[in-house]
Amino acid sequence: MMDLFFREWLEYFQWNAEEPDTLPWQARENPSDAEKAAIGASLATFQLGENSEGSALRKFAAEYGERMGFGMLPDITVLFVREERNHSALLARFMDKHGIPAKASDWTDAVFRMIRRPFGFEVSISVLITAEIIGLVYYRALREATGSRLLRAICNKILEDEKAHLEYESALIRFAQSTRGPLKRAAWKLGHRILFAGTAVVVFREHRRVLLRGGLPFIEFFDACWKEFHRLFPAAVSPRESKAGAGLQGAAWRS
Ligand SMILES: [Fe+2]
Ligand SMILES: [Fe+2]
Repeated sequence: MMDLFFREWLEYFQWNAEEPDTLPWQARENPSDAEKAAIGASLATFQLGENSEGSALRKFAAEYGERMGFGMLPDITVLFVREERNHSALLARFMDKHGIPAKASDWTDAVFRMIRRPFGFEVSISVLITAEIIGLVYYRALREATGSRLLRAICNKILEDEKAHLEYESALIRFAQSTRGPLKRAAWKLGHRILFAGTAVVVFREHRRVLLRGGLPFIEFFDACWKEFHRLFPAAVSPRESKAGAGLQGAAWRS
């Protein structure tokens, strides 16, 4: 059952890697200074965050894949990391085109990298998905916040990819949770929710200019984040259901 799950996702990531770039790079547009001032620093932070080598994640995936007998996991992880780096490259190209300076470091990015490192594959993807769920809400707001046709198209491309990432990772997390006893599972879920709430607050604080411009005041932003979270991790699912469901959700592109 898990074999089919991984096979479908491997095929999805391979297929998506071959998708041609149809973004309107030639669009004749010049974002105003006011728009660049409002979104520039925030964009640079996301550009940095998407640009991970993924070396720890790839190492964890190899170990976890070996331990659990998931032979395709390392290859999927390589393609996944490549997709994230492509997001970074798209944003970098847009920033370069319009003279928006890149960032060499950002404290939120540093914290996220730090908390992912010491705990292995399962925690690592739980932390990762936290950033990605909130990122999904952010890119939707960014799409509304910009007048640039190119940036809107980049947001759409990233959103498409991220939706798939969320389906894939949440299925893995639900599966990993189903292998734990009730106490560990409860602690994991609680920890995940605390991390999620804290991250959403910080992201709003750091990126409020884009979020407000995109029509998301704090309450609406927070609400949108939790809506995505609960869609992926419904609170009421019993362990048995979660275990059965974990292996069955293949790549969304087939449907
Ligand atoms: Fe991404
Ligand atoms: Fe992602």
